[in-house]
Amino acid sequence: MFPDSLWTTELIMRPIAPGDAGAIFDEYAQDPAVTRFLSWAPHRSLAETESYIADCIASQSSRTFTLLGRRDRQLRGAFAVRRVSPGHVGFGYVLSQRSWGQGLMTEALTEVAGWALKQKGVWRFGDVCDVDNAASARVMEKAGLLREGLLKRWMVHPNIEDTPRDCWSYARTR
Ligand SMILES: CC(C)(COP(=O)(O)OP(=O)(O)OC[C@H]1O[C@@H](n2cnc3c(N)ncnc32)[C@H](O)[C@@H]1OP(=O)(O)O)[C@@H](O)C(=O)NCCC(=O)NCCS
Repeated sequence: MFPDSLWTTELIMRPIAPGDAGAIFDEYAQDPAVTRFLSWAPHRSLAETESYIADCIASQSSRTFTLLGRRDRQLRGAFAVRRVSPGHVGFGYVLSQRSWGQGLMTEALTEVAGWALKQKGVWRFGDVCDVDNAASARVMEKAGLLREGLLKRWMVHPNIEDTPRDCWSYARTR
């Protein structure tokens, strides 16, 4: 049910591949500022990035895309799209620090939301972010998702603390 690739004005989104490991490790996987609100700790070796990519590729319920600059083909980040339930598509995303603040993830999320809500039987496109992740919350708002409410003690973000943290729930529906 996932697209093979998506193109936006500035980005190419194509399925993550084993050959991306070096660039992902060098560009952002080791960076504690990038991983702060993610579910995984910064990678300490290339082997950890290779294993992460293998898990992404093996997943039946999600597809992870590598984000490349459309002009320079440089690696910018990654975007995971997942089938949460038959009618609900969720997502997760990450960019290298040097790619922040250029509107790239708003562009990617808007594109994926448009794709998801055109799929037969998909009624809801939504996910969560940590209450302190203001940049991610803003991206979801700019992509037209509505803040639905606060989910108390919803998800562990292990780079911050080891107990579940409050998260904002955002979604677009049709
Ligand atoms: C979240 C992330 C993907 C945003 O990507 P991005 O391409 O930089 O986002 P955009 O440029 O499209 O938009 C960011 C918006 O957040 C705002 N913003 C950024 N940092 C902010 C902060 N600390 N507080 C408030 N707003 C902030 C920006 O001003 C911008 O809003 P504006 O256009 O109204 O000015 C990027 O910061 C990232 O990769 N973070 C680390 C991984 C992560 O947290 N992923 C999400 C997990 S839920």
